[in-house]
Amino acid sequence: MKLLALIFVFVAVYAKHEAYVGYKSYYVEPKTQVELKALGNLIQEFEVDVLYYPSVGREGLVLVKPQFQTAFTKTLEDIGISYRIHVEDVVKALEEDDKEIEEMERENMSRNGGVRMPYNNYQRLSVYDDYLDDIARRYPNVAKLVSPANSFEGRPIKYLKISTTNFEDTSKPIIFIEGGIHAREWIAPPTVTWAIKKLVEDVTEPDLLERFDWILMPISNPDGYEFSHRSSRFWRKTRSTHSAPFCVGVDGNRNYDFAWNTVGVSINPCADNYAGRQAFSEIETRVVRDIILENLSRMSLYITMHSFGSMILYPWGHDGSLSNNAFALQYVGVGMADAIFAKKLPHFPRYQVGNSVHVIGYRASGASEDWAHSVGVPLSYTYELPGLSNGLNGFNLNPRYIEQVCRETWEGIVVGARRSGDLFVPGP
Ligand SMILES: *[C@@H]1O[C@H](CO)[C@@H](O)[C@H](O)[C@H]1NC(C)=O
Ligand SMILES: *[C@@H]1O[C@H](CO)[C@@H](O)[C@H](O)[C@H]1NC(C)=O
Ligand SMILES: [Zn+2]
Repeated sequence: MKLLALIFVFVAVYAKHEAYVGYKSYYVEPKTQVELKALGNLIQEFEVDVLYYPSVGREGLVLVKPQFQTAFTKTLEDIGISYRIHVEDVVKALEEDDKEIEEMERENMSRNGGVRMPYNNYQRLSVYDDYLDDIARRYPNVAKLVSPANSFEGRPIKYLKISTTNFEDTSKPIIFIEGGIHAREWIAPPTVTWAIKKLVEDVTEPDLLERFDWILMPISNPDGYEFSHRSSRFWRKTRSTHSAPFCVGVDGNRNYDFAWNTVGVSINPCADNYAGRQAFSEIETRVVRDIILENLSRMSLYITMHSFGSMILYPWGHDGSLSNNAFALQYVGVGMADAIFAKKLPHFPRYQVGNSVHVIGYRASGASEDWAHSVGVPLSYTYELPGLSNGLNGFNLNPRYIEQVCRETWEGIVVGARRSGDLFVPGP
């Protein structure tokens, strides 16, 4: 009986990652802009999945399907881009990642009185939901829980509005930070809940609470987030089925109505960068759109949290040109990166700041950062949060570093907020 149970558990664990049998991951290191651009093309051609963005002279990490491995590595060799294997057996590495999370869970549950916090470990959706509910209940004068719509599969999409004046003082700029549109980027949501903790619980920067209204949405894609925990670790998209019955989901960060479906996207509904059957086809992107449009004249700063890469990216990401506000974008971006640098651990990579095409080497349309800027948000950024690049044994930043990433990211948010307030006066 015991043996049978054991076999059962084994099969279940194996089945959890079975979608990735035969996959391999590689470090790639483009040494010039030309190589970076060439790599960008290969990524499209061979359906390569970028887990850690490379930049010129800095290794990135990519996941390659079995059927493309030979052609991909041969082409890298032909072009002369250096690469080396990261993981031969992706399924095994994913099981190791699971073990790290379980270990962390055991340690913290014995030490922390059995309370799970969003920034203690890679937590399930319910931990986030409970945290948001709890903050709204304990701090009713500053925090209000809003749940504007349900996801495709019916989960409430939730955010907190944080304000000392119930959003009624229209002379205050609004800062909107959102995470988790890409389901598997598990380090993103904790950084948003950490901002909630700092503003509402710790109040270490009281000026930020007085001077601004905040909208903080840790997980904009709850269906994808749960799916990436439950079944497919590398799930990136939403879970909608309205485009094609057999191919689930849309890339939320290609679904915004800005140069929609023109570049860096796929029209194949099965692809990871499928842009959707129309712009804003997904409820998960419409919710973000509506928040931005509702009080656009007051919104000074929008940040969407992603991983990995240690990068702060700004528009335009579809063609690499610069917006009229490029100087301010660069100035505030560098300020945020410097603040993070001052608090980072020595072995974390230094942040790079710039136009997204220039930093990551390829173009993509329909991203939220571009759309938000195109409708009038003056400062709009994508954060690619840190992983430890070549110190990354598996595919998660070790959960022991979650809190560190939260702490240093907050330093960036503080500078971004203050500078946005200095530069921006809410319109009529
Ligand atoms: C959870 O455990 C890790 C590793 O021991 C530790 O760094 C972290 O502070 C713990 N968190 C809490 C809230 O106890
Ligand atoms: C926009 O501002 C108004 C008050 O001016 C507020 O009532 C409303 O909730 C705000 N909308 C969002 C999405 O925060
Ligand atoms: Zn992402």
